[in-house]
Amino acid sequence: MPERKYLIGGNWKCNGTVASAKELIKVFNEAGTIPENVEVAIAAPFIHIGLVLEELRKDIATSAQNCAASPKTGAFTGEICASQLVDMGVTWVIIGHSERREGFDMAGEDSELVAKKVKTALDAGLKVMFAIGEKKEEREAGITMKVCAEQMAPAAKLLSEEDWANVAIAYEPVWAIGTGLTATPEMAQETHKSIRDWVSENVSPAVAEAVRIQYGGSMKGANAKDLLAQPDIDGGLIGGASLKADFFNVINGAP
Ligand code: PGA
Repeated sequence: MPERKYLIGGNWKCNGTVASAKELIKVFNEAGTIPENVEVAIAAPFIHIGLVLEELRKDIATSAQNCAASPKTGAFTGEICASQLVDMGVTWVIIGHSERREGFDMAGEDSELVAKKVKTALDAGLKVMFAIGEKKEEREAGITMKVCAEQMAPAAKLLSEEDWANVAIAYEPVWAIGTGLTATPEMAQETHKSIRDWVSENVSPAVAEAVRIQYGGSMKGANAKDLLAQPDIDGGLIGGASLKADFFNVINGAP
């Protein structure tokens, strides 16, 4: 069984100012050592990525929260290309976050577009936190795994087996994001296991064994330990708690 290093991603979303980002970077820089079995990445807003690359400790990688679907640079006002992120020194990108799938002041991203972005990002040399997850009514209707499978299927079609080495799946039940409601460790474990089984059947058993599956949704210092103790939970994608010193309690919650 391959060792799966824990992956803890901090998702700052559309939060902060230059001053608050600098302050938070200072807190993280002084937060002590990161356990050897944990890999950490911070997904900053595009405008703060330069700052993070410059000032954040080098044992925390930098991530973007989105990139363009097309690999082409050029006359695409407002877009950021995966290759431009790589050029800047960015390592990771979050693709398929539910907030982007659902759309806020924009048209939402469907699973076909998400898959295309994942592929474009990988081809450019980024690693991808590929986010999936069901809504409250979908869990209540008992179709959690059907929803996750539908979200993964277009990516499974586009990605080669080698591509998957640079993908982590972030399972984020939408009803748990930013709500303070967390899936119980047992509930999360059950879905993580189903996701791994799906990958085994639809990609390959080797990829299923190696791929890291992060849990996301109101994860914080107080619940990280119990979640990370589950056999199929290989890390977290943390929103609210990544804007505070508590992020390091999540990191230190890894077994
Ligand atoms: P949350 O966000 O930790 O604030 O629930 C997680 C996420 O959306 O990635």
